[in-house]
Amino acid sequence: MEIRVDNLNHFFKRGTPFERQALRDISFLIPPEKVLGVLGPIGSGKTTLARTLNGLVQPTSGKISLGGVDIKNFGPDLRKKIALVFQQPEKQLFEETVFRDISFPLRSSYDFSEEDIELRVGNACATVGLYIDEIRNRSPFELSAGEKRRVAIAGALVNDPEVLILDEPAADLDPPSLLILNNIVESFKKKKGHTVIIVSHDMDSFLPVLDLLLVMHNGKMAAFGAVREVCSELRNDPELRQILPSLGLLVEELRARNIHMPDGDFDLQLIKDRIIDVLRTGRSFT
Ligand SMILES: Nc1ncnc2c1ncn2[C@@H]1O[C@H](COP(=O)(O)OP(=O)(O)O)[C@@H](O)[C@H]1O
Ligand SMILES: [Mg+2]
Repeated sequence: MEIRVDNLNHFFKRGTPFERQALRDISFLIPPEKVLGVLGPIGSGKTTLARTLNGLVQPTSGKISLGGVDIKNFGPDLRKKIALVFQQPEKQLFEETVFRDISFPLRSSYDFSEEDIELRVGNACATVGLYIDEIRNRSPFELSAGEKRRVAIAGALVNDPEVLILDEPAADLDPPSLLILNNIVESFKKKKGHTVIIVSHDMDSFLPVLDLLLVMHNGKMAAFGAVREVCSELRNDPELRQILPSLGLLVEELRARNIHMPDGDFDLQLIKDRIIDVLRTGRSFT
């Protein structure tokens, strides 16, 4: 579903000496079935934006709509539609066992039979590469950081949300887990109309799955658009170029030197072949 954000502003501790504006006039539109990366230095407002999108933070002003409907109209159902996996997953886990934790949103709605719950929890676990029978009775607090992250994601998927927001999901994942995560993002996007928002201060590992990129800086939008456009726009920004996805920046640097680079996905193999070709032949325009 389309997500539209209009003129979002948020102040923390407004009217006190500690007042801080975390969001400054943020407006963007995410068409359905897209993956948006929200990139920015620490403290730039990424988490605040993620929390306003799922209703945990009420913005000081501005409007967010999902499929043309103001999210204020969804009431408590909003969290079922827009699921957020916290930057620190342990803040999200609270039950005694992994099974109870993941099934919590289903058990609290009374809409699901025991069999339904069992099936949905099993599927959500399988999606994140966990086997429910191995961990169902373990305490979520005894898991490794990466396992906690996966349990928190399973808990977000179990409700079959339309939008999945992952706040700094790479923090405690190893390379194989990052691949699993990218597969989850891809398959979630392909379900009709589903949207994924990945918030991170480092987008390198998510570059292959991103359609759009929003760069935040001091609560403002520094750039928004296709990854290629954003990398091209911020290529010469002395501060923000340092946080751009490195492959995206490399491709734009080469293009700026009139070296033709293949369009489309950031495929490391294709880019490598192209650079070797240019170095060997000295030909840059093809
Ligand atoms: N609960 C809060 N109270 C006061 N200030 C906050 C609160 N949460 C975040 N901030 C401030 O808002 C700004 C943006 O924070 P945040 O959205 O967490 O940034 P990011 O996720 O990009 O690191 C920071 O300056 C931060 O200190
Ligand atoms: Mg954050």
